[in-house]
Amino acid sequence: MSSPPPPPDDGEGSDGNTGRSLSYGEAEYWDARYVEEGGAPYDWYQRYDALRPFVRRFAPPASRLLMIGCGSALMSEDMVSDGYLEIVNIDISSVVIEMMRKKYFNIPQLQYLRMDVRDMSMFPDESFDCAIDKGTLDSLMCGVDAPLSAAQMVSEVDRLLRPGGVFILITYGDPSVRVPHLNQPACNWKIVLYILPRPGFTGKIRRQVLDPVPLTERGRLPDGFVPEDPDSHYVYVCEKMQGLTGAGSPTVNHIESQGEE
Ligand SMILES: C[S@@+](CC[C@H](N)C(=O)[O-])C[C@H]1O[C@@H](n2cnc3c(N)ncnc32)[C@H](O)[C@@H]1O
Repeated sequence: MSSPPPPPDDGEGSDGNTGRSLSYGEAEYWDARYVEEGGAPYDWYQRYDALRPFVRRFAPPASRLLMIGCGSALMSEDMVSDGYLEIVNIDISSVVIEMMRKKYFNIPQLQYLRMDVRDMSMFPDESFDCAIDKGTLDSLMCGVDAPLSAAQMVSEVDRLLRPGGVFILITYGDPSVRVPHLNQPACNWKIVLYILPRPGFTGKIRRQVLDPVPLTERGRLPDGFVPEDPDSHYVYVCEKMQGLTGAGSPTVNHIESQGEE
């Protein structure tokens, strides 16, 4: 597997035709990129084998799953090979959705729909057991109105999950830049954080893969905590709790900081 680079800090590329600068937050950027890549599969950050411990632990194979911003990743195919029965994949790029539909026309467990994660009104409330995002929230954070986009995305994911359902967010964003966006007023998540080194990291890791990293009351890494790999990926497992906190608190609503249950 190739280890894809993280987005550049400005999250921008060029559309090649007009020279206009396009951002990771725009559908046109992704359409142009997928045309250029010609359908070659590409998994951002991590492949399924590295994420399997989390996915298997928090989403049994019979779960109805939503794969957000699926791109051309092999992740969903790998999950079907691992026994998953129903994965609805969405992406804002009509180019990649068309490619993936053609590629997987004979795999009934995989469905591909062109959809903006900020408006998934096509799906009824509480219709999924699990939602997975790897890199889409990060893309939105590079676009215009990033906080609004993040709020719309997280609120939509919350709406679509049944109570007790789980949102697994894989991102390069540490808690100081991701927890505030997860913590939308209408959401009541129990968040558990895991940290994975990037593929190919050769340094020593002190934790086991499923050892959570404690978060402070405010949803931050503990003082002095430094991941062994400075380019680590953060895996936020957010369980949708019953009821609302109601207050629109600026901090995380409910953080599991003392290890696994
Ligand atoms: C960094 S790529 C990650 C692709 C894939 N999840 C992976 O792990 O390889 C981000 C994906 O999000 C999609 N995307 C960007 N904005 C989106 C939006 N508003 N709604 C749905 N998908 C979006 C892009 O088209 C792209 O496929």
